[in-house]
Amino acid sequence: MPRTVYLETFGCQMNELDSELVSGRLRSLGYAFTPDRDAADVVLYNTCSVREHAEQKVWSRLGELKERKLSQPSLVVGVMGCLAERDGQDLIRRMPVVDILVGPGELDKLPSLLDNAVKTRESLLSEPEVTGGGEPLRSARQVALQGSASRRSATLAAAADSLEMLDLSRSISPTNVDEMSGRRSAYVRITRGCNKFCTYCVVPFTRGAEIHRPPDHILDECRRLADAGVIEVTLLGQTVNHYRFEHGAAVTVGGVVQPQKGRSYAGGHARDPFAGANVTTFADLLRRIHDEVPAIRRLRFVTSYPRDFGDDVLEVIRDHPRICRYLHVPAQSGSNRLLKLMNRGYEVEEYLEFLARARAHLHQPEIGRPLEVSGDFIVGFPTETDEDFEATVSLVERARYKNSFIFKYSPRPGTTAFDRLADDVPEAVKRVRNNRLLAVQAAISQERGLAYVGVEADVLIEGFSAKERKRRVREQGACGAGGTVELTVRGQGRGSACAIDEEVEATETGPAQFSARTDTDMIVLLDQPASRANELVGTIRRARITAASALTLTGELIG
Ligand code: 5AD
Ligand code: SF4
Repeated sequence: MPRTVYLETFGCQMNELDSELVSGRLRSLGYAFTPDRDAADVVLYNTCSVREHAEQKVWSRLGELKERKLSQPSLVVGVMGCLAERDGQDLIRRMPVVDILVGPGELDKLPSLLDNAVKTRESLLSEPEVTGGGEPLRSARQVALQGSASRRSATLAAAADSLEMLDLSRSISPTNVDEMSGRRSAYVRITRGCNKFCTYCVVPFTRGAEIHRPPDHILDECRRLADAGVIEVTLLGQTVNHYRFEHGAAVTVGGVVQPQKGRSYAGGHARDPFAGANVTTFADLLRRIHDEVPAIRRLRFVTSYPRDFGDDVLEVIRDHPRICRYLHVPAQSGSNRLLKLMNRGYEVEEYLEFLARARAHLHQPEIGRPLEVSGDFIVGFPTETDEDFEATVSLVERARYKNSFIFKYSPRPGTTAFDRLADDVPEAVKRVRNNRLLAVQAAISQERGLAYVGVEADVLIEGFSAKERKRRVREQGACGAGGTVELTVRGQGRGSACAIDEEVEATETGPAQFSARTDTDMIVLLDQPASRANELVGTIRRARITAASALTLTGELIG
């Protein structure tokens, strides 16, 4: 019998990539995907735990499924990702609707668990619920897996190996790209996990220790994506610039080179003293992908850690035209006292020194190649005073980001900050600081945007703009009838994780607003006839920038 899956992804780009890999596997097992949750036999949520708000969204989605499960007991519900890892048993106690629970370190097991759950559904359903001690226990029909627990168990190597197989088995084919028509951008993971243990952050607990994928696996994936039509690759890692693979220390299992544990990095901006034939550094990796896979016309990477960014990397970016002039380098705070409490490992002065060094190497507006930087900030971290906050405002003013992601501190159980520091900044104060920082950043964003007015730039057209998509849904309802072309519009930025499928009348001639991006990650809105969607989306075109607001540029296609 055909099984249809509804999969919703929350959170970061890592989660988007995980969802893509899992979907590929499930497709190959015969599952079909639907955007309609009510029509699905299997509902999967790929979850995020970074802030409480992200978790709450999942809780409410699961709550909505309670009634449906009563009327449709064959429904299978799975929770993947960071919430599954962090909240394991608690989640099952609170939400008996959940059948499958898989942390980010065990995603490779999801297909077999799901297959098993679906296949044995009927017989298992006839088993009685087990309860005890007044607390409902997990019933026999619930198949839960939890704890990638690279931290907690000695199975790191095993978990990493099987995860590597999930990455390696990524299904990439031209049909795949066609299906996602217009989609010419892909993520490629280069490191997993994080060793930084910033005191507010759950990631080292949910995703485990930092490991680095073998460079040949990464190159091969890039090549296969390029062969399938991908022209933009974004390399992913929590601290992507820490990438380093020592070939002498490589371990092979069953003929497959295994990912390698992150070693503590020498730090600073010195070149890696051991770089050479036996080590692939981040700079080497960028150079290799650029040179060996020229069909990738844009090579980007996120997220960079502000320390440990060598001049060698900056030089490679400068000297290789297809590497984008865009860095996402979170600072988190402008107060040295708070940076210390956050365990960030640098002071504001070092951060600014890094930005100055990056701009000295890479900011070349005179040849049409400026550098844009974006940041992340947390406001209302425990003990944050007005003075600390003003230091953050001052950093934002000095750093001249093109945009910043600003978050109110959210205490996360299991983190050092949660255990040791009271969440003592009132919500109202967090809100005021959040709004003030947003306003400061908006003025800077607008100023940076204005510098583009009159400039010509290559832009990658990604699909309809968010405004256009809303307008279409409002005016046309869901989809048009026959004679349609399908267009996938990739969500931009964090939070809008899912691809949105729309259909456009092939004969539709009215104007539509498209969204494109420069190689410095500036969003450019373009008005073009809707009928050109198929021809334009997924291509790089020349545009002239005509206007700028704090959020976006406006442009017109030339040539
Ligand atoms: N509270 C608020 N923001 C957080 N971030 C990470 N953990 C927390 C937290 N507990 C933010 C950081 C990070 C981004 C991905 O999320 O700014 O860079
Ligand atoms: Fe979290 Fe810090 Fe690692 Fe980023 S570097 S994932 S904020 S622990």
